[in-house]
Amino acid sequence: MKKSDVVKNIVGDNFSLAVETATAFAPTNIALCKYWGKRDQELNLPMTSSLSVSLGDKGAKTTLSVVAEKDIIVLNETLVAEETSFYKKLTAFLDLFRPHPDFYFHVKTISTVPIAAGLASSACGFASIVLALDELFLWQLEPYQLSILARLGSGSASRSIWNGFVEWHAGTRDDGMDSHGEVLDAIWPELCIGVLMVSEKEKSISSREAMQQTVETSELYRCWPTKVMHDLSVIKEAILTKDFESLGKTAESNALTMHATMLSAWPPIYYCLPETISAMQKIWQTRADGLSLYFTQDAGPNLKLLFLKKDRDIIKHHFPNLEWL
Ligand code: PMV
Repeated sequence: MKKSDVVKNIVGDNFSLAVETATAFAPTNIALCKYWGKRDQELNLPMTSSLSVSLGDKGAKTTLSVVAEKDIIVLNETLVAEETSFYKKLTAFLDLFRPHPDFYFHVKTISTVPIAAGLASSACGFASIVLALDELFLWQLEPYQLSILARLGSGSASRSIWNGFVEWHAGTRDDGMDSHGEVLDAIWPELCIGVLMVSEKEKSISSREAMQQTVETSELYRCWPTKVMHDLSVIKEAILTKDFESLGKTAESNALTMHATMLSAWPPIYYCLPETISAMQKIWQTRADGLSLYFTQDAGPNLKLLFLKKDRDIIKHHFPNLEWL
């Protein structure tokens, strides 16, 4: 099954312009229980379910319109060059939504995620494009359908259609029609996330390649689905009962296990820099000293700190470089 079959399944041939310009915002999300490994490379279908929290007003705002000759992509007011992999990846995604081959998009995206925070922008980027397409062609799709379309751009984008806590159900169908996000009926305003930057360098290996290499070569990866099943139910329960210790502990353990599966891949994959390890040790020491502080880590060297609003000042004191989200 191809991506274009999924698009056809959801929107049919409905590609008549309803408006000239459409704008939409999607929040970025941080996974508390990670997505790592695909069962279908083409459709970005995951091996396991995952769960994230969206970051409110931090995300991407995309405006779509139509242009004459070729796609024009402007990111944070800078024109994206055609030779870049970013341009190629995005235009390949837009290919799925052209009414005819000579139809080109003008894509203008503004990221409200602090650039220096080094947060993955692809999740909110693809989600905001799909939300804007929904307006441009007046599809009026259900959120779960938008989540499926966003997944075709990048797996984690399927969770960026909503605010709050979102579970992405792995699903079992080959066409992925049951693999989409679902928002949890819970809010937790006291929960805070901060980014601890240790490096702004580009990641050494993309998450797509890294997860594939892990699935194919890591012995430890066999344990990952069982670990996720356990962590997912503990994290859901912790969110519902506002049990921060349980949430923090499980999210940290989940991220570390994901990195352990990569470390046992061949060739090994290790996103940590020496500064990442020092930061972890500082977090563990701060916690041993009595502060309720945990972290999670994605496919890069930076850490995302989890803590409660009441501890903001003391955490800022220990980690003055923390970027607040
Ligand atoms: O959606 P992708 O292909 O960028 O992969 C995201 C992978 C992690 O960020 C490491 C985990 C996650 O669930 O977001």
